[in-house]
Amino acid sequence: MTFQSTDFELKSAQELLSWSFERFGPDVGLASSFGMEDMVLIDMIAKLDNPIKIFTLDTGRLHEETYEVMERVRSRYGLEIKTYFPDQDAVEQLVRNKGFFSFRESVENRKECCAIRKVEPLNRALGELKAWVTGMRRDQGVTRTDIAKVVEDLDHPPLIKINPLADWSQEQIESYIETNKVPVNALHKKNYPSIGCAACTRAVEPGEDIRAGRWWWENPEHKECGLHR
Ligand code: ADX
Ligand code: SF4
Repeated sequence: MTFQSTDFELKSAQELLSWSFERFGPDVGLASSFGMEDMVLIDMIAKLDNPIKIFTLDTGRLHEETYEVMERVRSRYGLEIKTYFPDQDAVEQLVRNKGFFSFRESVENRKECCAIRKVEPLNRALGELKAWVTGMRRDQGVTRTDIAKVVEDLDHPPLIKINPLADWSQEQIESYIETNKVPVNALHKKNYPSIGCAACTRAVEPGEDIRAGRWWWENPEHKECGLHR
């Protein structure tokens, strides 16, 4: 079976998570920012006989509410969260040279900050794995409309990338959360459907796109931080 196989498209999110563990065992990890999608996956993972490991990239600029939901994952599910921090020298140099809000000045500066605070730690995390799971969905914006459920990750060869919720709608996510009483980031109730770093995320207005609050000063086609291309 190739990893591009359309067979994967017919599998449910739970089936894909079980398959991930059967195929990769301790070499697969969920990348979690503890947004709604990741919380759905964490709830599913906690119900598996063999939970998949969970890792997060702590950029140093997260909301307090994000740390609170991480703590709830630890206490409610008893799951360990492996945290990767940015390289200390790189962050010190960035803020020394460009200040604390350089990312507002240009797309280039924003990508530089994301590269230091997210992408380099992600590469370190992926260096320990053969496959990774994400909470990405196709209806999250113009950059994500064609993501596959299982795919060879051309940005991180030879890793396999698994997106079990690729075909889920926002309504399905919310309904799963309600039915299963899944803990969520308190910011969602304050109109933050998508949450990243505090300085780069704002609430959305009624009718706005769910990722409108991420890097709101940029055009939609730029709204990727380098974790996913
Ligand atoms: S982002 O690239 O724009 O920040 P988004 O917030 O939509 O991504 O999240 C998409 C998926 O990327 C999440 O479901 C999660 O798998 C992964 N992800 C995003 N941010 C992080 C993070 N800080 N740590 C770990 N995984 C993350
Ligand atoms: Fe830096 Fe903003 Fe990217 Fe966070 S989201 S790493 S603060 S540019």
